[in-house]
Amino acid sequence: MNQMTSPPRLEIIPESAPFSQAQRSWLNGFLAGLLSLDGSVPLSPDQGAVVLQGASGDGDDGEAPWHDQTMPIADRMKLAEGRPMRRRMMAAMAQQDCGQCGYNCNDYSEAIAGKAEARLNLCVPGGKETARMLKALNEELEKAPPAATAAAAAPVAAMAVVTAEPGRSRDNPVAATFVSRRLLNKPGSEKETWHIDFDLSGCGLDYVVGDSFGVFARNEPGLVDQIIAMLGASPTTAVNGKTLRQVLIDDVSLAPAPDTLFELISFVTGGAQREKARALAQGEDPDGDAAMLDVMAALQKFSGVRPHPEAFVEALEPLQPRLYSISSSHNATPGKLSLTVDCVRYVVGKRKRLGLASIFLAERIKPGDELKVYVQKAHGFALPKDPTTPIIMIGPGTGIAPFRAFLHDRRATGATGKNWLFFGHQRSSCDFFYADELNAMKTSGLLTRMSLAWSRDGDKKFYVQDRMREVGRELWTWLAEGASVYVCGDAKRMAKDVERALVDVVAQFGARSTDEAVSFVGELKKNGRFQQDVY
Ligand SMILES: Cc1cc2nc3c(=O)[nH]c(=O)nc-3n(C[C@H](O)[C@H](O)[C@H](O)COP(=O)(O)OP(=O)(O)OC[C@H]3O[C@@H](n4cnc5c(N)ncnc54)[C@H](O)[C@@H]3O)c2cc1C
Ligand SMILES: NC(=O)c1ccc[n+]([C@@H]2O[C@H](COP(=O)([O-])OP(=O)(O)OC[C@H]3O[C@@H](n4cnc5c(N)ncnc54)[C@H](OP(=O)(O)O)[C@@H]3O)[C@@H](O)[C@H]2O)c1
Repeated sequence: MNQMTSPPRLEIIPESAPFSQAQRSWLNGFLAGLLSLDGSVPLSPDQGAVVLQGASGDGDDGEAPWHDQTMPIADRMKLAEGRPMRRRMMAAMAQQDCGQCGYNCNDYSEAIAGKAEARLNLCVPGGKETARMLKALNEELEKAPPAATAAAAAPVAAMAVVTAEPGRSRDNPVAATFVSRRLLNKPGSEKETWHIDFDLSGCGLDYVVGDSFGVFARNEPGLVDQIIAMLGASPTTAVNGKTLRQVLIDDVSLAPAPDTLFELISFVTGGAQREKARALAQGEDPDGDAAMLDVMAALQKFSGVRPHPEAFVEALEPLQPRLYSISSSHNATPGKLSLTVDCVRYVVGKRKRLGLASIFLAERIKPGDELKVYVQKAHGFALPKDPTTPIIMIGPGTGIAPFRAFLHDRRATGATGKNWLFFGHQRSSCDFFYADELNAMKTSGLLTRMSLAWSRDGDKKFYVQDRMREVGRELWTWLAEGASVYVCGDAKRMAKDVERALVDVVAQFGARSTDEAVSFVGELKKNGRFQQDVY
């Protein structure tokens, strides 16, 4: 992993400023260089802030034509060619603005280009592809002349500030208590989705609807034991002040085998094996199985290779937290927090693969257990400020989560705006999450309209966007009345398809050309009336 270079010891940014030690250290060095300070001139934080803002222009127009989560990385990089490094770094991100890295895509790239963030592997949806591209771009940056490096760093003022408040960022989690889980699917379902409850009273965290919850799950002990056996190591070997077993459970990712593990394997083996490991470390796919190699599968592929436990742990990536949309309202149930979690299970070859966090929450954590967690503040996904504004919520599958929260919140606060929910899933008989609750909300009038779409009830797939088109006239009326639109769930296909349906509805019932309808939806986005929480 990249190491920070040591900047001059000047304390321009005070200890109390909301930066991590690494960020403060870098900013001190950056400002000292910019102002040619020799350490004798005291500078107030205000003056520092002015300098940072003044340094932000690098001639880029700020447009991000690559900001589309469905676009392949090669196309995104092409669109960013010739742009400043921070923009090319942004194009390397997965473009979901999902917050898992603790930033949005733009701020994460600015932080890296500005050397305030040394971790290049935080983009979860971008995976190894993004990490590799960032590594290459970062190497380019390291080799660039100092003036270019400073230019890349210039807009650091716009960088997301990592808050030091406990429980408010992935860098500073707190402990919450797991209370219970309840299966939301009925028998006959192909899905396994759980309603999960946490108690926050012990850690004192609160949240607003629209926020997400970050959880630090732990690896499955059975998998860890198999890996230790493959290494031929003792579970009690001391590594980083813990036992090897505990480090493998708590601290490192056992999912996609990182390039650094293949590098390590190439060092401790020879011949054809070494060539193969080297190729894998460089992102090549000599046997066509690279995408399916988790840490266990990598050890099986190079069986007999036994790296030293310490080197092995060092070659792995840190275990990343997972985010879940909060499906409860603090206003309705203070101190309680709910999630709606779909289980990830699939089979590769003969081995069952399990999602880390979803299966941890669905199977392993026990009532009363504590878990490291944090609240990830939503940026641009919140109820309208005006409680009388009508809202249209579109959330198939687990996309229902924040909308359950919105509805509970609007009831608790007495918000009088109309509420329209589009929910869909595979089968009405077994996949209608929160059916009793939602039907009761409909009966009470809280839920003004509920439109459902079951994809596997009939012969043909029927999705929420099909239902939207069917009721397009009423949808347009709500929009014309000033309704805000929200979409939550799958980023790769559903979110795009729903947006396309909205454009079609605006064109057809708002009497506009397609181009005008696209601009209309664009304006809704700009004005915060079209918001998405997609993953
Ligand atoms: C802002 C935000 C909100 C979210 N809200 C929710 C929510 O409300 N509910 C919810 O359930 N999830 C939600 N997610 C997704 C969640 O964070 C996790 O990504 C998800 O639960 C999977 O995590 P995991 O640790 O269980 O699986 P992981 O261990 O991360 O495994 C998932 C990975 O396994 C691989 N994989 C999965 N299926 C297959 C397959 N069939 N074949 C091959 N490979 C496969 C893919 O590489 C995939 O990325 C949200 C994500 C974000 C960013
Ligand atoms: N990588 C993928 O291709 C993919 C796809 C979907 C979900 N996911 C992920 O799986 C996790 C959990 O998903 P989930 O439990 O929320 O449910 P889900 O798998 O997203 O399914 C919810 C409903 O959406 C339907 N659907 C599928 N494609 C759609 C589209 N293009 N437009 C509108 N609806 C569509 C599904 O129908 P059918 O299944 O019957 O088609 C189902 O009825 C999420 O993390 C999500 O991102 C991944």
